[in-house]
Amino acid sequence: MRMSKKILLSGIQPSGKPHIGNYFGALKQFVDLQNEYDTRIFIADYHALTTTQNAEELRQNILDVAIDYLAIGLDPQKVLLYKQSDIPEHAELAWIFECLTTVPYLERAHAYKDAKTNRKEVNVGTFNYPMLMAADILMYDADVVPVGADQKQHVEIARDIAEKFNRIYGETFKLSEPLILDNVKVVPGIDGRKMSKSYGNTIPLFAEDAEIEKLVMSIVTDSSGGIPQNVYEIHKLFRTENELAKLYKEKEGRYKELKDALIADMKKFIAPLRARRKEIAGDTSAVLKILKEGGAHARALAQKKMEIVRERVGVKLY
Ligand code: ADP
Ligand code: TRP
Repeated sequence: MRMSKKILLSGIQPSGKPHIGNYFGALKQFVDLQNEYDTRIFIADYHALTTTQNAEELRQNILDVAIDYLAIGLDPQKVLLYKQSDIPEHAELAWIFECLTTVPYLERAHAYKDAKTNRKEVNVGTFNYPMLMAADILMYDADVVPVGADQKQHVEIARDIAEKFNRIYGETFKLSEPLILDNVKVVPGIDGRKMSKSYGNTIPLFAEDAEIEKLVMSIVTDSSGGIPQNVYEIHKLFRTENELAKLYKEKEGRYKELKDALIADMKKFIAPLRARRKEIAGDTSAVLKILKEGGAHARALAQKKMEIVRERVGVKLY
């Protein structure tokens, strides 16, 4: 008997241009693993509503992420690609999870705690964010969920909720595992903090050459040792540590030359990705067709799962 492949599921929010932290922390793994797993990758557009209230911008961002996914090499023949909002069952399942989860439990989530310190009044969507994410994951019986280290807690919350639901209503959901690459836990931004759209410290994945030069030159370096740590941490993504050990020894203390070396490596890496993206962006109707078909397929899977869930919780009478 042929063993069926394990299910891999992940997604990112359509909240602006992807950066090399997103790529090495999450996106690259989607591509690397698409043959090994039964892969489902989606655009978390309802999650993005927690921070965006501009419809035109959101529409554009959703399309952009779809193009990004295809440009990095996700193959729609192998991977199920969809946007979350095409499957309203995600929101329905999130509601059921919300009714099983206590407020103090969700108050411990990092994303909420961060939002609370940064914004005066946090919206309910941001507070409930991990519930919708749990629904995204558990709806499709995902075995593994590749994400950056900062999303690990959310996947653990999904596991907790699956356990709780199974305990109360009987075995229904699979306990998904986060999949985090050891060597790329957190990619630093040009200011040394975690690279993040919200800090404005990113190097975009599809950056033009001039932008790469400017951004790498502005990476903050400490002047204490011979190795500029932030430059090195980013350089590590493009070359092996052996190659870098040699280079950084040879050019010890010569920060400008080390940055030039990083610029050259980064340009070489980004150029073909950027070219592919431009090509795909030239035919948006093909991109939309992939999304629409993926959405219909995903929805059929979700509807099947929800039949079971509704029956388990006691609302299904016919
Ligand atoms: P951002 O912080 O830029 O808004 P997101 O929260 O949209 O990024 O993250 C999208 C994906 O990229 C997530 O899986 C996240 O864990 C990963 N990711 C984001 N920033 C980094 C980083 N600096 N290093 C590694 N992975 C990251
Ligand atoms: N919260 C994730 C992020 O910001 C996006 C996301 C939403 C997600 N639902 C998910 C990731 C389910 C993996 C699985 O990056």
